[in-house]
Amino acid sequence: MNLTLKIWRQKGPTEKGKIVTYPISNIDGDMSFLEMMDVLNVELVEKGEVPVAFDHDCREGICGMCSMYIDGEAHGPDRGITTCQLHMRKFKDGDTIYIEPWRAKAFPIVKDLVVDRSAFDAIMNAGGYISVNTSGNTIDANAIPIPKEDADDAFEAATCIGCGACVASCKNASAMLFVSAKVSQLSLLPQGKVEANERVIKMVEAMDEQGFGNCTNTGACEVECPKGISLENIARMNREYLKAMVKK
Ligand code: SF4
Ligand code: FES
Repeated sequence: MNLTLKIWRQKGPTEKGKIVTYPISNIDGDMSFLEMMDVLNVELVEKGEVPVAFDHDCREGICGMCSMYIDGEAHGPDRGITTCQLHMRKFKDGDTIYIEPWRAKAFPIVKDLVVDRSAFDAIMNAGGYISVNTSGNTIDANAIPIPKEDADDAFEAATCIGCGACVASCKNASAMLFVSAKVSQLSLLPQGKVEANERVIKMVEAMDEQGFGNCTNTGACEVECPKGISLENIARMNREYLKAMVKK
């Protein structure tokens, strides 16, 4: 198929960006979206032009790097997948496709479609871990009984890949879905309950410090999340935060 790509180009964090139009032809429906971007970049290099910078790594929906806003949707016009899992058969011959970076104050643009998501790292550093005594007396994790429902909910929360689509699709650029998934994956398990109060307060504080907006329950994050992280995590985090503040 033949397509017209309208791509956000920006030389650097402080440069002014703009949408640039690139026609592209002979794109196979079985190609992934990133393979289509590779074809474009090869053509640009052959013409002596600067290729489009975009993040990617695993190309199989695991690492969360392929942050692209495609036709006004985080990770494009499909559900439950990342940009690297999007196939060109989702588009029609003659389509015009708009490709932009995540847009949020806390995710400044580095170049073209690449944004700096280290604000997520700062939140994780604030409390997204458990402190384990590794002196040799550590209890084997398998020896601690965990209710099946809690284990399942913790597992579901742990599938968050930190891609940032929730922030990009939220009109407030809120990181509540991400933070609540990271809080939940630990606080639901016995090993994470020890520091649960301290953790939720520190992570919410870090989220605010990094400049993310507030949650107003519009639910766009849940719709666009490639891993189906549920809004129930936000409700759980709000309960935990309230409880922790009362005990503080
Ligand atoms: S909650 Fe979903 S959209 Fe947000 S960072 Fe995690 S996987 Fe990505
Ligand atoms: S490149 Fe790793 S999730 Fe897309």
